[in-house]
Amino acid sequence: MAEPQSGTVTSRRGFLRTVGVTGGAGAMFATMGALGLAPTAAWAAEKEAPFQAPRSGDFHLQGRHGKPAKVVVIGGGIAGLTSAYELGKAGYDCTVLEARDRVGGRNLTVRGGDTTVDLNGHRQTARFSEGQYMNCGPGRLAQWMNTLDYCRELGVEIEVFTNTNASALIYNEGNGMAAPVQYRTAKADVYGYVSELLAKATDSGALDADLTADDKERLLTFLKSYGSLGADHKYTGTEHRGFTVDPGAAGTPGEQLGGVPSLADVFASNVGRYFSFEFGYDQAMLMFQPVGGMDAIPEAFARAIGHGRIRTGAPVTDVRNTSDGVVVTYTHNGRRRTIEADYCIATLAPHLLARTSHNLGSAVQTALEAVKPSQASKIGLEYKSRWWETDFKIFGGITETDLDLTHIWYPSYGHLGERGLLIGYYNTGAASETYSALTPAERRARAVAQGVKIHGEKYRTELAAAFSHQWKLTPYLEGAWHSMPGGPDAPAYAPLNQAQGHVYFAGDYLSHLDAWQHGAIASARKVVTELHARVLAS
Ligand code: FAD
Ligand code: ALA
Repeated sequence: MAEPQSGTVTSRRGFLRTVGVTGGAGAMFATMGALGLAPTAAWAAEKEAPFQAPRSGDFHLQGRHGKPAKVVVIGGGIAGLTSAYELGKAGYDCTVLEARDRVGGRNLTVRGGDTTVDLNGHRQTARFSEGQYMNCGPGRLAQWMNTLDYCRELGVEIEVFTNTNASALIYNEGNGMAAPVQYRTAKADVYGYVSELLAKATDSGALDADLTADDKERLLTFLKSYGSLGADHKYTGTEHRGFTVDPGAAGTPGEQLGGVPSLADVFASNVGRYFSFEFGYDQAMLMFQPVGGMDAIPEAFARAIGHGRIRTGAPVTDVRNTSDGVVVTYTHNGRRRTIEADYCIATLAPHLLARTSHNLGSAVQTALEAVKPSQASKIGLEYKSRWWETDFKIFGGITETDLDLTHIWYPSYGHLGERGLLIGYYNTGAASETYSALTPAERRARAVAQGVKIHGEKYRTELAAAFSHQWKLTPYLEGAWHSMPGGPDAPAYAPLNQAQGHVYFAGDYLSHLDAWQHGAIASARKVVTELHARVLAS
């Protein structure tokens, strides 16, 4: 998780930061020089410092000898694109080498007509209709994430992504639930019974050592409202649970959902197991998505960088430090090519770089091998009708299950339209592996059979098209995110957090927000800052 912003400190460091904010990186480096401080990577890595994009003016401000350098970026995912974009703004001569036939990396949106071939040789062509899309990787952005800063800067239109919805469902088959329940019902019952127990403890004096008489009064007031308790401090149900007949005109007050389960049944069903998800700093509403598909972000980056600076279909096969730069070898249109540069930023997945020829040394190789990929997968299911909206009144949000489909995502776009596309499974770890072992047709059949348990036969009969994406089987990625015991600052990964000769490393795995584009961007910005400081100092 991201570290909270630290408060303002009056210090030499704080002063320098202020200079940097007002005058840009060049002014800051000049000031550091005047203070007798070398512009080092230590400054650049300072966690609290807001990112200062390199600017061409930095070179003049520094009174300088250096000039923008030539940089080869390996990987056209979000980290690689951020690096090339930010360095390019300051005049660096960047080339991005991307192995796949499109930029974006794990930021992958699939639309009708798109074809993939996985590492098992399974070829799929998406048969989605016009306007329908599936985000195979990233799908949501929190309000505080730097990803939204780039959406603003690059003109990517965004809309709300509904991450939690009171009308979505919870289904725990393993806990004996006969049918799914709505989130609102589950919350009302769990909050109700927890409040009742806490009120009982308060009333019986069990909390007297912790609470004053006034505290007790205030706590009971809160619990009565939060848990909808009666005057006797008992939970017997509430309209928060929902209605079987919605309230209407005068004379039709509606019919509240009955059949309040017992306290024991509520906890036995474990319906509360996922409630804390929506408290997560990274998952709390409001969340956002780019209009039309998450790949609007890499496409906007690519336009800003200039397509002429990006080579797709260009897998790198060798990375070599030389005495004064780097030589990177890649293939393009079946031909072996080399590119010489002053610096290289390697953003390909660490487990893939570990399999690539290089002369970066055994410490780097050991660190790369210590990062293990972990797995996730999704299936897109397009339906002829939006039955989840018409029949279930679910407009966006996520149903949580203990089936191996794990999550069902309802679309946060196209509401009230004719057709719609669900994410029929979004699963990780062992559940993802189960689906990776199947053919695309078998995955579809398994996902639909499980969905029918939750939504009934329309889950099968209304289905128009399916497309499954397993990150484990995706060429040049082979993983969804990373397992790094101890986090990116653990000693095992230290060689990757600093330049090795002329080669830098970036990617979400080298951040405190792995599995988020914010992490990839933060890591790229750190490397950009370090590289720019080095060039200015050279
Ligand atoms: P990558 O995207 O992996 O980029 C590396 C690039 O290197 C790739 O383009 C690859 O093709 C290329 N490459 C590999 N080998 C070579 C080679 N030999 N030569 C040249 N190029 C090579 N983030 C969010 O913000 N919100 C979300 O909701 C979210 N959900 C996610 C859900 C899933 C299922 C997944 C998989 C990811 C999700 N993420 C989410 C995380 C987000 O996708 C990543 O954090 C981000 O895209 C990583 O960017 P990167 O540049 O570090 O790595
Ligand atoms: N960041 C990933 C998601 O939100 C894990 O799905």
